[in-house]
Amino acid sequence: MSDVSASLDFPVTRRADATSTAAREATLANPGFGKKFTDHMAAAAWTPQAGWHDSRVVAYGPLQLDPAAAVLHYAQEIFEGLKAYRHPDGSVWTFRPQVNAARFAASAQRLALPELPEVAFLRSLEQLVATDVDWVPAFAEGAETSLYLRPFMFADEAFLGVRPADAVTYLVIASPSGPYFSGGIKPISLWLSTQYARSGPGGTGAAKCGGNYASSLAAQIDATEHGCDQVVYVDVVERKWIEESGSMNICFVTRDGELITPKLTGTILDGVTRRSVLELASDLGLRADEREISIDDWRDGARSGDIVESFACGTAAVITPIGSLKWEGGSIELATEPGPVAVQIRQALLDIQYGRAEDTHGWLYQLA
Ligand SMILES: Cc1ncc(COP(=O)(O)O)c(C=O)c1O
Repeated sequence: MSDVSASLDFPVTRRADATSTAAREATLANPGFGKKFTDHMAAAAWTPQAGWHDSRVVAYGPLQLDPAAAVLHYAQEIFEGLKAYRHPDGSVWTFRPQVNAARFAASAQRLALPELPEVAFLRSLEQLVATDVDWVPAFAEGAETSLYLRPFMFADEAFLGVRPADAVTYLVIASPSGPYFSGGIKPISLWLSTQYARSGPGGTGAAKCGGNYASSLAAQIDATEHGCDQVVYVDVVERKWIEESGSMNICFVTRDGELITPKLTGTILDGVTRRSVLELASDLGLRADEREISIDDWRDGARSGDIVESFACGTAAVITPIGSLKWEGGSIELATEPGPVAVQIRQALLDIQYGRAEDTHGWLYQLA
């Protein structure tokens, strides 16, 4: 048994029955999103007595879970999402993984799970990506393919009492991925959900836990039934302040050169992309601001021309323009084409991530 916090290692046991080169190449030619997985996964276990232990990289495969495992009943689970990018010289990098590690630790605290030290989080990514490096799609101009990395942690103690579990598993799986929205960068439509809430004060909105996404699915069905791509949520207290979309933060660009995103109130996710957009906006000479913005501010601003662009941002979808907003009894058209600021920030972000531009912020972290 090795203690992760002490040794920080994830020794690799390679599987004997690895995917053939031909089969892997076929997957990489058309990866989709989150459907195919690499040959290995990183894993570690935790108990109060032993702390983190049994850290390793092993064959990807089904888990054996006791039917009484706490996660299956009470959803004591958290996750992260980040990408590994192949650069033109063949090296592989990820983007601000320290921010994901910190958010993972904050989510762990909220869900009464043990914190994984940043150094162990980073090491697990390095060891898994080094092992499955052939699964990182080759650099191709404009292709936006990557290896999506999904670290997660869950309670697997077999016990039906409601309390923090005494046995926890940490895993990282990896999935070669094309763009999140298959249609390319075209504006999406958002459904303003007034029936459902994502989170409320004191809830788990700022944590990246599975339960938040389970509870978003009914709202997503509602959005689809109203002909929309995604949901946008407002706060639950006054039902007027814009929070975020189901898997993306929201940004607005004003006519007089401001980039505004709803401030972090504890009910929305502190997105890595959101943070990066705020900094890139300043680089581009925009005044970046985090503040409350109401749904009426948005509708009125879009109608008057004070808000010239609205876009969503997140690791999976990068920057996605918002083309229309619909609500019960009304809608507003916002854009038919991506706006210039969205395009510029998107390009700046991708250029850094894919190694085409100098990483002046020190955001990249080499994995292989
Ligand atoms: C609810 C929610 N908001 C925002 C984001 C964007 O966060 P990030 O930029 O860290 O991917 C995500 C995706 O992780 C999300 O699930």
